[in-house]
Order: sequence, then C-alpha cells, then structure tokens
Amino acid sequence: MSEDRYLTFALGKGRLAKRTLELLEEIGITCEEMKDKDSRKLIFVNEELKLRFFLSKGPDVPTYVEYGAADIGVVGEDTILEENRNVYEVLDLGFGKCRMCVCGPASAKDLLQHHERIRVASKYPKIAKDYFYNQKFQTVDIIKLNGSVELGPIVELSDVIVDIVETGSTLKENGLEVLEEICPLSARMIVNPVSMQMQSERIKDLLSKLKAKLKEGV
Ligand code: PRP
Repeated sequence: MSEDRYLTFALGKGRLAKRTLELLEEIGITCEEMKDKDSRKLIFVNEELKLRFFLSKGPDVPTYVEYGAADIGVVGEDTILEENRNVYEVLDLGFGKCRMCVCGPASAKDLLQHHERIRVASKYPKIAKDYFYNQKFQTVDIIKLNGSVELGPIVELSDVIVDIVETGSTLKENGLEVLEEICPLSARMIVNPVSMQMQSERIKDLLSKLKAKLKEGV
C-alpha cells in the first residue's frame, strides 16, 4: 500500500487508544514508534504504510477530524454527541461500552417524575440539555463540571448528574444510583467528509478489514 499522502489518525488518549492500536495491529497496521513509553513525541509515523497517528484529549478528536487535521478519529460516542462536529461516524468498534445516565441519590427519583426545576451537573451539558429539554420536556439548570461529577449531589451542588456509567462502582461507592438511562455508548470511528471522498479507496479498505476482524471477534 504505497500512496503519496499520509492518512492521519487522531486517537483519544487512554484505554480507547490502547484498544484501537491493538485492533489495528490485528489487521497488520502497526506503529512501533508509539510503543516507546519514554518518548515525548506527539506524532508517530509508519513510513511504509504512509500512516500517521497522534493522541489527543478525547473531546479534541472530533475537532481535529472536522478540520481535516486528522482524516480518521477514534473516540467515545459520548464525545461525538457532545461535540456535534461535522464528521462521518463510520464504525462502531464495539469496545468502550458504557451508558449515559441520569444518576443521583434514590431520593431524587421523585424530582424526575414531577418535572421540577432541578439542578443537573454534567461534563456533557449538551447531552444533558437535549435529554431534559427535548425528550423529557423538563426545564432544568445545567451546571458544567470537568470531572468527578459524582460529587455534585454529594456536596449539594446539584440534585442529579448526567454521566457515563461503566461498571457502576463509582456510583455505588458514593451512595448514588442510576435513575434513568439516556443511551448506550461505545467507541466509534469517525472520518473527515472530504477525506472520505478523496481517500475513499484507502479508507474503505481499512473499514472492510476492521469490520471483518470485529466480526471474527464476536
Ligand atoms: C468516568 C465517569 C464516571 C466513571 C464511571 O469518569 O465520569 O465517573 O468513569 O465508571 P464506573 O461506572 O466504572 O465507575 P473518569 O474515570 O473518566 O474520570 P472523571 O470523573 O474525572 O471524568
């Protein structure tokens, strides 16, 4: 596979990037440079396959892809929904499975049923707003937090939170529970719309190999 231009991948830092690199390796795409844990480099190249990879904060992945700074991105669906960028969502990678939920103390259940004006803390203000305003038709005050969102109801910043639940242990250890489920989530591959046209052969080839590998794994 030798093409004149590099295809660039933006991967959300952390577990998703690790799983993505493992999956790519299974279809013969490796990046040895990335395996050097001591490296301070930000961008890694596979000269032979003309591929480049970089790691970024999850919420920045759709931004890089929308502007074409990366052709392809891998990020959680939560981030795709929250960022609402102009990108094509092309593949459900099947890992990174979790749920977007409204959570809080059991006592907050009533507040959700009676459409009270409550406070909702979340790292995902857009998803929270969309859920309460457009699906539940409940007017709420949304408070944006950047992490450890479970603190919201504990320190009485908010009545409930909208957050990701994976194993449920963070909720349990903090005396909170899932009150309502908004949607299931998983890792997704996204593509820049122009790249999808201009590099369609290479991208389609990559997608079909990934799909076949994912099918094998089921
Ligand atoms: C995420 C999420 C929950 C937790 C859920 O937080 O926001 O807090 O994981 O996982 P669990 O159901 O398996 O306990 P993350 O670890 O990304 O850190 P953050 O709270 O700083 O955002």
